[in-house]
Amino acid sequence: MSDIPNNHKSVTVPDFLSARSRGAKLTMLTAYDYTSARLLDAAGVDSILVGDSLGMVIQGQANILTVTLDEVIYHTRCVSRGVRRALLVADMPFMSYQISPEQALANAGRLIQEGGAHAVKLEGGKRMAGTVAKIAYADIPVIGHIGLTPQSVHRFGGFRVQRDMEQLLEDAHAIAQAGAFAIVLECIPADIATQITEQLSIPTIGIGAGAGCDGQVLVMQDMLGMFEELHPKFVKRYAELGKSVVTAVQRYCQEVQCRGFPGPEHEFK
Ligand code: KIV
Repeated sequence: MSDIPNNHKSVTVPDFLSARSRGAKLTMLTAYDYTSARLLDAAGVDSILVGDSLGMVIQGQANILTVTLDEVIYHTRCVSRGVRRALLVADMPFMSYQISPEQALANAGRLIQEGGAHAVKLEGGKRMAGTVAKIAYADIPVIGHIGLTPQSVHRFGGFRVQRDMEQLLEDAHAIAQAGAFAIVLECIPADIATQITEQLSIPTIGIGAGAGCDGQVLVMQDMLGMFEELHPKFVKRYAELGKSVVTAVQRYCQEVQCRGFPGPEHEFK
């Protein structure tokens, strides 16, 4: 958020809500560990999301359905130690909020109390409005997530762009009215995302939803070129860290094998 005067001032929920009136675009990236969180926070990202995408980029699963609440709490705790300024959001994993609003509230509370998150995110539209309201009423800030919701991968039959405008608008309004302070729009046509953004008073954070959103979110491993398994169209690769890592490790192996490392400067006298 370029116009937040003091770089060390924490980003808050009210900062999210005032972003549009300040003409600021919100930036969010995922992180799952302390070191990455330190780097993203130092770079000035507004929000760090401990996404259930950790199932794929950290655990190597085919989808995110096996991620547990305890795993998200563990990663959120690691990330929270590295966050100085960013708003820390923890994802509610599959089956941690679908059973009942009461259970959802208890689990959201764990992400705040045990994980150190400032806010939680959960997937789903109108059907989840009661759950969002229950959590928000307890003063736990909630971010909604509609469009391609990866926890619904089996119902969708794969990771597909969502184009049902009427349904998307209805879902977005229901989640906003339920008390969410922001909403992620994933893989929906840009013109629909722009319409949703124009109709809602809370900020929209897009991923594969075009430039009309109030902010953008990407998975860190995707945008830094560290994850080769998937190449979604909506990802821009800002670095090729995967290639740099392989080259560096090859050099290390070669130098160890040729007795080039360690050198005298790395030895204790
Ligand atoms: O889990 C995740 O990383 C997410 C983002 C892609 C929005 O939900």
